[in-house]
Amino acid sequence: ALPDKTSENWVLAGGLFEDGLEAAGFKGDVQYAPASNTVAEQQNQISAMVTNGAKVIVIGAKDGKQLGTQLQQAADAGVKIIAYDRLIENTENVDYYVAFDNFKVGQLQGEALLEGLEARSGHAAPWNIELFSGSPDDANSAVFFDGAMEVLQPKIDDGTLVVASGQTDIAQTATQGWEAENAQSRMDSILTSTYSSAEIDGVLSPNDNLARAIITSAKQAGKDITKITVTGQDSEVESVKSIMAGEQYSTIFKDTVALVDETLAMITALQKGEEPTVNDTESYDNGVKIVPANLLVPVIVTKENAAEAYADDPTLGPLTK
Ligand code: BGC
Repeated sequence: ALPDKTSENWVLAGGLFEDGLEAAGFKGDVQYAPASNTVAEQQNQISAMVTNGAKVIVIGAKDGKQLGTQLQQAADAGVKIIAYDRLIENTENVDYYVAFDNFKVGQLQGEALLEGLEARSGHAAPWNIELFSGSPDDANSAVFFDGAMEVLQPKIDDGTLVVASGQTDIAQTATQGWEAENAQSRMDSILTSTYSSAEIDGVLSPNDNLARAIITSAKQAGKDITKITVTGQDSEVESVKSIMAGEQYSTIFKDTVALVDETLAMITALQKGEEPTVNDTESYDNGVKIVPANLLVPVIVTKENAAEAYADDPTLGPLTK
């Protein structure tokens, strides 16, 4: 049960699950929650999966706090639940979590921002930056933001970085639904209110889709994007092109093939009655329990290491040549 297609990784995952489940001899059923009425539709889809006899349900939650009823129904029917990429919260009925290390993603974004400011702003500190975070209904959003702020907050405190709009609280920085148009209009307002004469040196963007919206806004406001550091995540095709063209500064490579493979391995273990592999039993407290997690390592990508990072990727590799 996958959410709406807010980034390319979700689209890719659906196809990989279909093929991978079939190749491993499982009967798979891949469903996406449609863009409208997403939460209710996903609840209905999960309920129907239980009724139709699913043994394991892999969930990329639209709203990780609103699946309690459906997961109780699943638990009562003996169905195992794997939270995929996004944690499911406030329920004991989630058995495993498989994802890239989200806190690490945030830290890498924070570090990339500092590195980019140094490399391309053309001046020494202090640097003016703005902060964006993801959708509040996605448990990942706060983890990405906290990871980044662990790196950035000390630099804000010592005056190296200045958030000129004053918007540093996660609620102020949020991007509802991970929708590009929401990030673009917030960026438009910030540029108008705060940067009509001042320069903006960098933007913490939680993913590629939002990074491109932020870049569009900055360009429309007449800013020189080659001097501004904008971070990202997901290694989306258009963002990799933008990085190679010297516009977006960084992205994060979270190899969807590897994440789906790990998930398939967990399903296979469950089928054999074995414990799936986990490597973290302390980080992901969902409010009711600590969910045993299998965390993969994210990779930061800039123009500098893109060729190396995507060497084995048939789509992205050629873009770096
Ligand atoms: C994923 C990101 C993605 C975002 C929007 C998050 O939960 O971890 O990779 O950019 O959702 O789709």
